[in-house]
Amino acid sequence: MIAITGATGNLGRLSIAELIRRGTDPSDIRALVRDPESARDLDAQGVTVVRADYDEPDGLPEALKGAEKLLFISGSEIGRRVPQHRNVIEAAQASGTEFIAYTSLLRADTSRIGLAAEHRATEALLADSGIPHTLLRNGWYLENYTENLGPSLHHGVHLGSAGEGRVSAASRADYAAAAVEVLTGSGHEGEVYELAGDRSFTYAEMVAEVSRARKTALAYRDMDSDGHRAALAEAGVPEDFAALLADWDAGVKRGDLFAEDDALHRLIGRDTTSLAEAVARM
Ligand SMILES: NC(=O)c1ccc[n+]([C@@H]2O[C@H](COP(=O)([O-])OP(=O)(O)OC[C@H]3O[C@@H](n4cnc5c(N)ncnc54)[C@H](OP(=O)(O)O)[C@@H]3O)[C@@H](O)[C@H]2O)c1
Repeated sequence: MIAITGATGNLGRLSIAELIRRGTDPSDIRALVRDPESARDLDAQGVTVVRADYDEPDGLPEALKGAEKLLFISGSEIGRRVPQHRNVIEAAQASGTEFIAYTSLLRADTSRIGLAAEHRATEALLADSGIPHTLLRNGWYLENYTENLGPSLHHGVHLGSAGEGRVSAASRADYAAAAVEVLTGSGHEGEVYELAGDRSFTYAEMVAEVSRARKTALAYRDMDSDGHRAALAEAGVPEDFAALLADWDAGVKRGDLFAEDDALHRLIGRDTTSLAEAVARM
């Protein structure tokens, strides 16, 4: 039995689809979800759907009971994730989970991106738990860009503060395939995988690719970090989120989202999805 948290999210759904595609019987997959109503499609495929909320520790051990392996997909509530993740790890201990694959962040141990702190804390909790585990330190999703370019395309300009920084992004499907390999293959226990795309791009290169593929003029306007944050806030982006976006671009500028590791390529046994492929699917 393989349990998956965040199963109604993008990465969770892709991971379940990949598990089934690669031969795992749906009845051997347990989807842990906050709202079973939103997982009806998984239920219809024969996947076992159980309710599990990271904020409700009492129900978590029962939800994990009997699951040998857990794909622990990090939560999406930034700032609340350390206690939430602690709840999941303690439940895994209580229910005898034998293996956890956790979706962390690229070079979480040294990354200066604000998000890294919660991942570092979770990695430490996993280390202390004594449960055999693998760290899937995922780099940026290509979809972080391709799914959010609407306003930029509307205005013909993409605002950022990443300078000439390069991003080694890959698709969610690539990261899901790597997770499935770790869950179903052998020899991954104790490994720390720095997962990133085979190729990298600057924001200027990214908008050039979008312009080419969409036959439209999209420019990149690089700003300093404070100016970027202020411009986003002025455009109606909530201040907290504007600060996050500026922090992520600062990380890109420093090279925190650039990697030359080929671990993702090796795990999935193929080239990672390119920017051009992702843009073509926009
Ligand atoms: N590497 C990157 O570029 C990148 C980008 C974005 C996010 N991430 C991280 O990777 C994770 C997976 O990415 P994604 O695209 O699949 O994100 P997503 O679509 O937002 O999915 C997040 C999942 O976490 C679940 N979740 C959130 N809070 C929860 C809670 N309190 N209890 C139980 N489940 C909870 C959500 O449940 P509901 O369906 O009920 O909301 C959802 O299933 C994210 O959660 C985030 O930690 C990474």
